[in-house]
Amino acid sequence: MRSDLLTADGLTKRYGRFTAIEDVSFTLRAGEVLGLVGESGSGKSTTVRCLVGLTKPDAGTVSYDGEPLQGRAAWHRFRREAQMVFQDPYASLNPRMTVAEIVGEGLRVHGIERTAAGRRARVTTLLGQVGLDAGDLDRYPRSFSGGQRQRIAIARAIAVEPRVLICDEPVSALDVSVQAQVVNVLRDMGRELGLSILFIAHDLAVVRYLCDRLVVLDQGRIAEQGTREQIYDNPQAPYTRSLLAAVPIPDPAAERERRHRQKESAR
Ligand SMILES: Nc1ncnc2c1ncn2[C@@H]1O[C@H](COP(=O)(O)OP(=O)(O)O)[C@@H](O)[C@H]1O
Ligand SMILES: [Mg+2]
Repeated sequence: MRSDLLTADGLTKRYGRFTAIEDVSFTLRAGEVLGLVGESGSGKSTTVRCLVGLTKPDAGTVSYDGEPLQGRAAWHRFRREAQMVFQDPYASLNPRMTVAEIVGEGLRVHGIERTAAGRRARVTTLLGQVGLDAGDLDRYPRSFSGGQRQRIAIARAIAVEPRVLICDEPVSALDVSVQAQVVNVLRDMGRELGLSILFIAHDLAVVRYLCDRLVVLDQGRIAEQGTREQIYDNPQAPYTRSLLAAVPIPDPAAERERRHRQKESAR
């Protein structure tokens, strides 16, 4: 049984009289990929912001590695061990820094590589892991495509040897043709490094082959959670069914089967 790594317990966040999330509870277990899915506005980013301490929840707690996230020391450790990849690859990289600086910064700040030469060598290795190369070291973000920028963001995140990656819609802003490539980089990195990944998406097709388990958010509340098989093959909540019906499933055989089932149930 995989151990619990990051747990949200009863998270509630209000903006004025509007409740963005209410009583949200789930656990990311060590070594798994957990999907957090729901339509735009369902409270996914608010949940993430509460989890990582960017927003203070009105109620609920967050635990990491078996301890409540409280106090400076616990947060300090968590901030290094949990890294984020954000949605907008055009806003999340400093345009005035080179790739070597962007990816190397955490190595310097956390004292992982103390010399410039050591950092350069390490960044070169990291770039190779995400499918970029040494020739990209001294280039600036503006000369990269959206997909390449997310690879840079992934390299930056894994540079500090995290245990947890929290990815808030990392492929939603990308062309459909490159979404799968970036998802694959994340999946491969996760397996290679034994990471636990919380992957946020509004589209169930994107995360189908990535997530071990999923949490479905509907208007700030959990509609259901379960294993990939439960969510995709036997969804219980009407909301999950409607999300599934809204996405084209990129597997021709599965799509034929789905159409067939829809016709059957329409009879
Ligand atoms: N800082 C804020 N002030 C007021 N309302 C907010 C704020 N942040 C988010 N919201 C609202 O909370 C709801 C959930 O937003 P969000 O968590 O960003 O959803 P998602 O990431 O699923 O698209 C939305 O209705 C949004 O407008
Ligand atoms: Mg969001």
